[in-house]
Amino acid sequence: MLPFTFILLLLHSGCLQGGQGDLRKELKGLKTEFAVRLYQTLAGSGNGTNLVISPASVSVPLELLQFGARGNTCLQLERALGYTVHGKRVHNFLRTAQAAASTSGPGTTIQLACALFVQTGTSLSSHFTEHISLWANSSLETTNFSEPNRTTAQINRWVSKFVAGGKPNEKPRNVSLERIHSTLAQIALVSTVSFRSIWQKRFAFTDTQVLSFTSTEGLILKVPMMYQTANVNYGQFQVTAKQQVGVLELPYRGSSVSLFLVLPWDKATPLAFLEPHLTASAIHIWTNSLKRIKMDVFLPRFRIQNHFNLKDVLSSLGITDLFDPFKANLKGISGQDDLYVSEAIHNARIEVLEDGTKASGTTALVLLRRSRTPIFKADRPFIFFLRESDTGSVLCIGRVTNPLE
Ligand SMILES: *[C@@H]1O[C@H](CO)[C@@H](O)[C@H](O)[C@H]1NC(C)=O
Ligand SMILES: *[C@@H]1O[C@H](CO)[C@@H](O)[C@H](O)[C@H]1NC(C)=O
Ligand SMILES: *[C@@H]1O[C@H](CO)[C@@H](O)[C@H](O)[C@H]1NC(C)=O
Ligand SMILES: *[C@@H]1O[C@H](CO)[C@@H](O)[C@H](O)[C@H]1NC(C)=O
Repeated sequence: MLPFTFILLLLHSGCLQGGQGDLRKELKGLKTEFAVRLYQTLAGSGNGTNLVISPASVSVPLELLQFGARGNTCLQLERALGYTVHGKRVHNFLRTAQAAASTSGPGTTIQLACALFVQTGTSLSSHFTEHISLWANSSLETTNFSEPNRTTAQINRWVSKFVAGGKPNEKPRNVSLERIHSTLAQIALVSTVSFRSIWQKRFAFTDTQVLSFTSTEGLILKVPMMYQTANVNYGQFQVTAKQQVGVLELPYRGSSVSLFLVLPWDKATPLAFLEPHLTASAIHIWTNSLKRIKMDVFLPRFRIQNHFNLKDVLSSLGITDLFDPFKANLKGISGQDDLYVSEAIHNARIEVLEDGTKASGTTALVLLRRSRTPIFKADRPFIFFLRESDTGSVLCIGRVTNPLE
């Protein structure tokens, strides 16, 4: 894969309509902020490789869980997202936004879908199912986690209804339950977002040439570079005292979605210098102050696919109780007080070509029942001894106060 030295943002604007301008603006800001924080957490812990994540598919299950979470577990979900779905106005707005986000126009398809795969025999609270049935086009399916391969196949069949595969020879790495403690699994919460569209102005295949691309390490790579002359929205912005970025908007046909490209102005500036300055307010300013201008646009063709364990990412955003078998409070889901999230898997891909773009994201959370098995965890100083039982002879005795010493 090509090292990727510009940042891209797929923004969907104008999805919250109506007169309540302030709330709409605020929620747009919060959604962008959540996306930026996800990006920064991954970019910061990563290693400079290509990266793609679908914040929209991550936020839907976190919203859904708010309906079943109580106490601190719920509070942490609300803080990480920046909003609560329990507020009437926010609730209504998000519902409208979800409906608007799932639109298909000429040449454009956006689909948002969510499903709960529930262990046969597990009963969910009716309050919870009422709420989720209205959320993000979600559906309820029953499954049998004691047969993990069949459940995996069932989930992936559902996912593939919305998300097309990657390269023909590439096995899609969606959701796998191989590692799940199947007898304790109760629910898998899966959400997908998929987007497919053609450019408002396509790049001609015949204009694509092999040109140089300089990697972060200074390597010169030869890459297929698409080219067109077009009237585009463009702006140049000061990010720090020394650094500027060029921001270009490439719109898709007949939709409110555009691809924004953020390129360090100075060739020697690594992305790592700019990433800390990527904020929701910077994005708000950039996207609202672009000017129409005629430009020669060169953009490499690219295709990125990522597979993450989201647990660490979400934990660093403050969502910790949800993953703790003893602290998680998901009483609102089924009345049981022993559910927690054991796995959070994310899969995202994007493909940017001459005629348009395909992008998708899938997030799967697996909810387990806390094991009834008691736990012994020597995670503090302890004493030990080695004793021969027939004679009572103690072969040795001691203590451990620092296992690393
Ligand atoms: C870099 O990070 C990506 C994503 O986190 C990971 O898939 C890849 O294995 C890492 N590569 C190296 C060399 O550490
Ligand atoms: C809602 O989900 C169904 C299948 O569960 C799908 O056929 C439909 O296209 C989705 N609707 C939207 C608006 O995404
Ligand atoms: C689930 O699968 C297990 C193992 O195949 C089987 O014993 C059990 O009867 C199944 N449960 C249901 C409710 O079908
Ligand atoms: C389930 O899948 C794994 C790996 O995909 C395989 O090793 C295993 O044999 C399968 N189990 C059954 C019962 O088919």
